[in-house]
Amino acid sequence: MATTAAARREPALAGQTVVVIGGSAGIGLETARLARAEGADVIVTGRDPDRLARAAGELGAAGSAAFDATDPAALDRFFRELPGPVDHVMITAGRPYYGLLAEMDVAEARRSFDEHMWLPINVARHATGTVRPGGSLLFMGGTGARRPAPGLVVAAMGTAALPAMTAGLALELAPIRVNIIAAGFVDTPLSAQLLGDRLDERRAQLAAALPIRRVVGPADVAALAVHLMANTALTGATYDIDGGQQVLPAG
Ligand SMILES: NC(=O)c1ccc[n+]([C@@H]2O[C@H](COP(=O)([O-])OP(=O)(O)OC[C@H]3O[C@@H](n4cnc5c(N)ncnc54)[C@H](OP(=O)(O)O)[C@@H]3O)[C@@H](O)[C@H]2O)c1
Repeated sequence: MATTAAARREPALAGQTVVVIGGSAGIGLETARLARAEGADVIVTGRDPDRLARAAGELGAAGSAAFDATDPAALDRFFRELPGPVDHVMITAGRPYYGLLAEMDVAEARRSFDEHMWLPINVARHATGTVRPGGSLLFMGGTGARRPAPGLVVAAMGTAALPAMTAGLALELAPIRVNIIAAGFVDTPLSAQLLGDRLDERRAQLAAALPIRRVVGPADVAALAVHLMANTALTGATYDIDGGQQVLPAG
């Protein structure tokens, strides 16, 4: 029976250590939960120390560190102070920048570049010597800005650049693997914050329109993330998870 077979299988990440940079909420927290359930030790980071302490306590985390991951000195310190080698580092810190050129908040736009472009590069610079061979780096990108639209200029740049960066890093860091998850709408605290009182309307609209007839949640992304960590055949690639949002007709 399928359930008996599942109960008998080895945990996918037994004996491994997973670092989640941005692991106190949303996709990162859910991935840390699943990694724990699959036998891994987890180390989580985030900026808000209280939220991080709650997450680390719930997870039974092997470690946690509160700092802004876009601060290169703080990131260096975090990697220097890790107790030993790790198997996977996932980055879920950050938020996209949406806004028309005419109204651009340049500081916020730059921050989104720091979070989505420089943070992966800075983490990658620490990978050799920190991540065990065959382990992985895992980044987060998006699918929403693949189709041009006003207000998506900055988000579109990240959307296009991250897969290219990921492929190049997979060559430079081999045998450490490097992959990126490109998500559509995911029902997380970030989405709630971005949409405000339009959240329920957006959920209902997507649940009706998407081919999967429901919204994508953080557990869906976590399942993909843990698979990308465990499957040692996967590197240099972008994995979409959007419930079919991209294949819907425009409009
Ligand atoms: N949700 C979506 O629909 C969606 C779609 C496509 C891509 N993504 C991307 O996926 C990633 C995760 O999204 P999410 O929805 O799970 O976000 P979330 O719910 O806001 O969670 C983000 C996590 O990262 C931490 N974090 C944020 N900025 C940080 C920083 N500068 N330094 C350290 N920690 C930081 C947050 O804690 P603190 O705030 O306390 O630091 C939190 O633990 C983001 O990069 C997002 O752009 C999300």
